[in-house]
Amino acid sequence: GNAVTQDRFIVVGTGSTQLYQAALYALSPHDDSGPINVVSAAPYYSSYPLITDCLKSGLYRWGGDAKTYREEGPYIELVTSPNNPDGFLREPVVNSSKGKLIHDLAYYWPQYTPIASAADHDVMLFTASKSTGHAGMRIGWALVKDRETARKMTEYIELNTIGVSKDSQLRVAKVLKAVSDSCGNETAKSFFEHSYDAMYERWKLLKQAAKDTKRFTVPDFVSQRCNFFGKVFELQPAFAWFKCEEGIVDCEKFLREEKKILTKSGKHFGDDQSYVRISMLDRDTNFNIFLHRVSVSSNSTL
Ligand SMILES: Cc1ncc(COP(=O)(O)O)c(C=O)c1O
Repeated sequence: GNAVTQDRFIVVGTGSTQLYQAALYALSPHDDSGPINVVSAAPYYSSYPLITDCLKSGLYRWGGDAKTYREEGPYIELVTSPNNPDGFLREPVVNSSKGKLIHDLAYYWPQYTPIASAADHDVMLFTASKSTGHAGMRIGWALVKDRETARKMTEYIELNTIGVSKDSQLRVAKVLKAVSDSCGNETAKSFFEHSYDAMYERWKLLKQAAKDTKRFTVPDFVSQRCNFFGKVFELQPAFAWFKCEEGIVDCEKFLREEKKILTKSGKHFGDDQSYVRISMLDRDTNFNIFLHRVSVSSNSTL
């Protein structure tokens, strides 16, 4: 129930990373008008600018933060919801009718966010990497409204990798069937219930540590009703957008040097260095060590 699938084309890709590039190829004008700007509201997923500009394409180029984008003419806006790195639900921000939208819904699953409605957008990207954690299989899928856009995306994938590994497609189909079969089973927790509980527990501990130590903050999320679980809950994202308090300017450096915690600085996401992104999906032992290290007052580590 997280996305409308009726009357959509499904384009399978080598991860949603390839589908992102396929969507850029399909949505960019192929005339002499020059590269189209690709924008996303900061903080944005740090790979977007790198992937967009790595080949210095004549079709598209990174245009930066969508919140400050003022240029006339066509553009592509990437809407990641829930967002990586800060976890918030998002909508397009550029106020213009000339934009084409790519919705990256990698994290639009009930273990991370209430599913308030079935997403219904022109181009929606999903991935096995975040739905079940099978990033190594390299399978993503796009739900695409327009036939010509889907055709061009497929064309790109054929040019880029001569199609998508059938072995991986079969594996992911098996995984998704197991996930689907686990839903509605009265005797055992479904995959999503199990994952929801794990995320709930971790967020509860992290929020408590923030409150107790007052040395860092994490975002406050509002509660919404989830149609999948039939209950109201707060977002519990795959990443924590962690802000160092007490006047610490470079949070990544502080955590690395004082706490032996490796994170990714806010600067990679088009934001401030007082923020870092922390993965909430590591193994229990690592997550517990992390919690311990941010909670103790000295620079002692485990
Ligand atoms: C928002 C977002 N989109 C896409 C991806 C890439 O996913 P994939 O492994 O399917 O290429 C990631 C991975 O971190 C992500 O966070």
